[in-house]
Amino acid sequence: MPHTPPHWFLLGAGNMGTLAAWYLTLAGHRVTVIRSESASPLKKTLWLPDGRQQAVSLPVLTPSALPDRIGHLLVAIKTPYTRSAMAPLRQRLDSQTQVLRFQNGLGALDSLLPPGCIPLEAITTSAVKGQHPDHTVVAENATWLGGSTAPPAWFAALTEHWPDLHWEDDIRPRQWHKLVANAVINPLTALYDVPNGRINDDPALRKQATQLCEEADHVLQQLDPAWPGHSLENVLTVARATASNTSSMRADRQRGAQTEIDAINGWLVKQADQLDLAVPANRKMVTALTLR
Ligand SMILES: NC(=O)c1ccc[n+]([C@@H]2O[C@H](COP(=O)([O-])OP(=O)(O)OC[C@H]3O[C@@H](n4cnc5c(N)ncnc54)[C@H](OP(=O)(O)O)[C@@H]3O)[C@@H](O)[C@H]2O)c1
Repeated sequence: MPHTPPHWFLLGAGNMGTLAAWYLTLAGHRVTVIRSESASPLKKTLWLPDGRQQAVSLPVLTPSALPDRIGHLLVAIKTPYTRSAMAPLRQRLDSQTQVLRFQNGLGALDSLLPPGCIPLEAITTSAVKGQHPDHTVVAENATWLGGSTAPPAWFAALTEHWPDLHWEDDIRPRQWHKLVANAVINPLTALYDVPNGRINDDPALRKQATQLCEEADHVLQQLDPAWPGHSLENVLTVARATASNTSSMRADRQRGAQTEIDAINGWLVKQADQLDLAVPANRKMVTALTLR
C-alpha cells in the first residue's frame, strides 16, 4: 500500500536544513520550519553545484503555534543551541515520533527526547555554505540515515529524490569515523585560523593532530574493542581532499559564534572521563574553544 509522505517539522533551516528540506519536498513530504520569527513562508535560494539556482519556500510556525503532537522532527540546528531550541518541543513528541538528527558530533539530543521516541541519525559528506537566504551546495555527496529500527516506510521513495542516499543498519561506525576527522581537523583549524590542508603541511600541527587522533581511537576502542583504530591516515586524507576549505568550526570562531566543540571533542572527553582515561590534547581543545 502506498504510504503518505510525512510532515516534517524542521528545527534549523540553515545550510543543511534547507538542502534536506528541498530533497524532502521533492519526494512529496511537507516541511514546516520552527522559528521564533513568524514571517511565513521562509524564502531561500539554493545554489546547486551545476550553477543552477533553486527557490525553496517553506512555511514557518513559531514554537507556541505548533500542533500538540509532532510526528516527524528534523533537527539541523547547530549543536550548542539544541537544548534551548528543543525545550518547547519536548511535550509535543511521543513514542511514535521519528526524530532525525542532522548534526555533526554526538550526543546533542541525549536526555532531550522522551522515552520510546524513534531517534534516527544522519551522516553526510555533502557540504553547503552560506547565510540566509542564500545557501550554496559546494559538494553533493553521499548521505547515510540509520537508527535502531528498520528503514521507515518513507525511506525507499525518498532515495529517488535525494541523490546518493543510503540506509545504514549500524550507522555508528560512520558516525565515529566522521567524529574522529572532525575532532582533529575542526579544533586545530579553528584555533590556528588555518585552512584544512595546513594539518598535513605543518609539522607542529601534524604532531597535535596525531595526538588528538590517538586519544580518540583509544577512547573508541575502549567503548568498542572492534573499533579498528589507526584513524590518522583517514583523517589526513580528508584534510588533503579539503585542503583549501575552511572548517565549520573555524568559520564559527571567525564570526565569534559558539562552536560545536562540545559535541565533538567534548563528547570524547566525556566518554574518557567515564572510562577514567586521560585525553589531555582533546581536553585542551575543549578548553581553548569554549566561549566564556
Ligand atoms: N553545512 C554543512 O555543509 C554541514 C555538513 C555536515 C554536517 N553539518 C552539520 O549540520 C548542522 C547544521 O549546520 P549548518 O551548516 O546547516 O548550520 P547553519 O547554516 O548555521 O544553520 C543553523 C540554522 O539553525 C537556526 N537556528 C538557530 N537557533 C535556532 C532556534 N533556537 N530555533 C530555530 N532555528 C534556530 C539558524 O537560524 P538563523 O539563520 O535565523 O540564525 C540557522 O538557520 C551542524 O551540526 C553541522 O555541523 C553541516
